[in-house]
Amino acid sequence: MKQRRILVAVGGGIAAYKIPELVRAFRRVGHEVRCVLTESAAHFVSPLSLQTVSGQPVRSQLFDAVEEGSIDHIALADWAELVVVAPATANLMARLAHGLADDLVSTLALATRAPLLLAPAMNVHMWEHPATQANLSLLRERGAQQVGPGTGDLACGYEGEGRMAEPAEIAARSEILLGRRDLAGVRVLVTAGGTREPVDAVRFLGNRSSGKMGFEVAREVVVRGGEAVLVSASSALPTPEGTRRVDVVTALEMREAVLEELPDCQVVVMAAAVADFRPASPSATKLRKEDLPEEAGLRLDLVRTPDILAEICREKTGRVVVGFAAESHDVLASAQRKLARKGCDLIVANDISESSSGFDVDRNTVSFVWPDSPVEELPPLSKQEVAAQLLDRVSKLLDHRR
Ligand code: C5P
Repeated sequence: MKQRRILVAVGGGIAAYKIPELVRAFRRVGHEVRCVLTESAAHFVSPLSLQTVSGQPVRSQLFDAVEEGSIDHIALADWAELVVVAPATANLMARLAHGLADDLVSTLALATRAPLLLAPAMNVHMWEHPATQANLSLLRERGAQQVGPGTGDLACGYEGEGRMAEPAEIAARSEILLGRRDLAGVRVLVTAGGTREPVDAVRFLGNRSSGKMGFEVAREVVVRGGEAVLVSASSALPTPEGTRRVDVVTALEMREAVLEELPDCQVVVMAAAVADFRPASPSATKLRKEDLPEEAGLRLDLVRTPDILAEICREKTGRVVVGFAAESHDVLASAQRKLARKGCDLIVANDISESSSGFDVDRNTVSFVWPDSPVEELPPLSKQEVAAQLLDRVSKLLDHRR
């Protein structure tokens, strides 16, 4: 992956506290990052935090001899291949729109030839104000790109549009602007969510999978220039931008959808929690306890569902196939057995006994289990970071096979 040079210009809004996370996202994929702050930004995020996560000195003054000595502002403007303004406050956008050069950030924005990505964040009334909208239009006419804002709770207590886009979203948009496309031309089939196996007209056997992990993988595929087909089982999550989504309910439906999409896919990531058993003969109507003898229990007759992952591994023909193993005990040993039994290229194992990782949370602690190299144990990461790490490995495997 080509390492790029990103200048992060931090504006003075509460969302600035999220910027170290953005810097880490850039660094994780190998980019060089330098941070500059407006004077008011330092009220919301410490320059030392930004220096630590970027690994570079942070600048905030235009006329500081020491700062100019380390890298002068014109050199910094030339150095950048992308300038990300986050949070882009109403005041900062107004100054950029009018070409002011009265502090370091505004001067850099004028001096650079790099594309400008704005991540606006402010109170909803400030956002909706015609002055702000006019300034933004002006910046966009001149080629500035925009990510967000989203809608939701705002720090000022209001609810509405004005939340800064999440760091992952800003990072994703930046990659697109930088043209990083290591999965260009690659179609990836991702399964996500948890299947539901009907018991009767209203009940099902299901599991706790939310679909978050698989959805993050699909999102990351698109960011890297690939095509993502997302076969989603009972997930309420919104479809990640640019992915094609096929909704299914049962394991049998998932198998059918996967087999249909498979021939055109070079990579399969099976993140879905697929039921291993299903009721043998679900009732078409609702089962009523009144119809059973008083105090009687109910026995469900279950039959095995097809193992989709094992089935697609039998005819891999050069395809990269990744499975997941969510385990509550003996995690690595069980993942290793699964890898051998199913015959996939990689198993992502995670320990679901830990409440901070696994089902329906944003973080995950996983290990990559390989057929012929040592297990890689990753620290606790956001699911987006896990997806990025996973696709780094997939991309390398594809390179080897090419
Ligand atoms: O066998 P187990 O459910 O533990 O294996 C998990 C992996 O196998 C996951 O990648 C899951 O998507 C896949 N799987 C499958 N078909 C099944 C059960 C699991 O493809 N019937």
